Amino acid sequence: MSRADLLVKGRVLADGRIARGSFGVRDGRVVPATEDAAQVLDFGDLLVVPGAIDPHVHFRDPGAPQKEDFGSGTRAAALGGVTTVMDMPNTNPPVFTRAALEDKLARARAKAHVDFGLYAGLDEKGEALSILREASAVKVYLGATTGHLLVRDPDLVRRALVAAAAAGRTVAFHAESQACLERHAHALDDSYPSHAHARPAECEAEAIRMLAAAAAGTGARVHIAHLSTAKGLAAMGGTPFSAEVCPHHLLLTQDALRGGGAFKMNPPLREQDDINALWRALAEGRVACLASDHAPHTREEKAAPRQGECPAGVPGVQTLLPVLLPFAKTGRIGLARLLDASVAAARLFGLPRKGSLAPGMDADFAVYDLDEERPVRGAEMASRAGWTPFEGMPAVFPRHVFLRGAPVVEEGRFVGSPGAGRFVAPP
Ligand code: NCD
Ligand code: ZN
Ligand code: ZN
Repeated sequence: MSRADLLVKGRVLADGRIARGSFGVRDGRVVPATEDAAQVLDFGDLLVVPGAIDPHVHFRDPGAPQKEDFGSGTRAAALGGVTTVMDMPNTNPPVFTRAALEDKLARARAKAHVDFGLYAGLDEKGEALSILREASAVKVYLGATTGHLLVRDPDLVRRALVAAAAAGRTVAFHAESQACLERHAHALDDSYPSHAHARPAECEAEAIRMLAAAAAGTGARVHIAHLSTAKGLAAMGGTPFSAEVCPHHLLLTQDALRGGGAFKMNPPLREQDDINALWRALAEGRVACLASDHAPHTREEKAAPRQGECPAGVPGVQTLLPVLLPFAKTGRIGLARLLDASVAAARLFGLPRKGSLAPGMDADFAVYDLDEERPVRGAEMASRAGWTPFEGMPAVFPRHVFLRGAPVVEEGRFVGSPGAGRFVAPP
């Protein structure tokens, strides 16, 4: 066996426990630790964990580079310890066709600093059904949100599930029932809090119940994006669906909406009971996965005095794990469980060689000092948004981050280069 390039030592997660350990890296992959490596990186008591996988980002490339592109978005990801992102299809033009997918792939290949997957988006004509194997996953919008990707036809949803099962692709759903949203639209006025009242919990539950019926017997892997309510969780019961939760739905109640546009997203912020239910489900593993739903909009747009003029969505890829790590110290969630949720997307979406530091896997890892807490500052984030809904909250950012064995963050400073990121998709 040829000599390893790196021997990495630190506190690592093995068999659900954190203890001193080591692993080797050769040609960008993890190999068993050997003492004759070309270089030794001994991180002492620092925590060395697999790079996080964020299965839900909106990098606005192509279409709105003033909000984000693959360069700025993946730089933010790297600085937050995220080494794989999956980019949503509601860009402009949306990813319905092979040409749009290939265009996005070329942009991402040229600019990305971390690995990336790309979603195909289902539209009313079902065009995306012919490109499922070229994409990493499929996205379906059951309720209207940013972009115009709403699908109303349950037969089309079912056909998409059958096609995705055949292609081996997971289907992620924006689960707010459009019919339910329309029933509550009368609650909308100019005020920001009205946004939450017009998109109540029952719309999430209704969408998930509809899906349970539509997915039965298709064999498709269904994933519920940004699950946000106790009612939605209850509707998940008895289904084989997976779900992700976002830090904003765990850390902020809908009272924050009085603070304006920085707290407007879909689904909206919820009540304390929902937050408690989501934390419990995450801590127990009933919700397997974390995601940021990184959805940057400009400061100017978010400062709109009337909620109707403000687009929904908040940035978050850089803070995904950093704002949650402090809760592993207070015992709200076990550290091993939280770390597992940060890589669960690898299994749920079938991404090869991602999500663990076992031999053969990509050597994507991040190094944290859990005692190094500092407040989140929007102005310091790498996203072009330049703001954050988590302003001032304590966070633990990674000290070092490696992508396939190469450093992208060193001592908290970005050192990556564009084009280092590779496309990832199930076989
Ligand atoms: C997202 C966006 O801006 O693209 N907005 C949001 O509020 N989450 C779209 C989405 O995920 O619904
Ligand atoms: Zn969504
Ligand atoms: Zn989203």
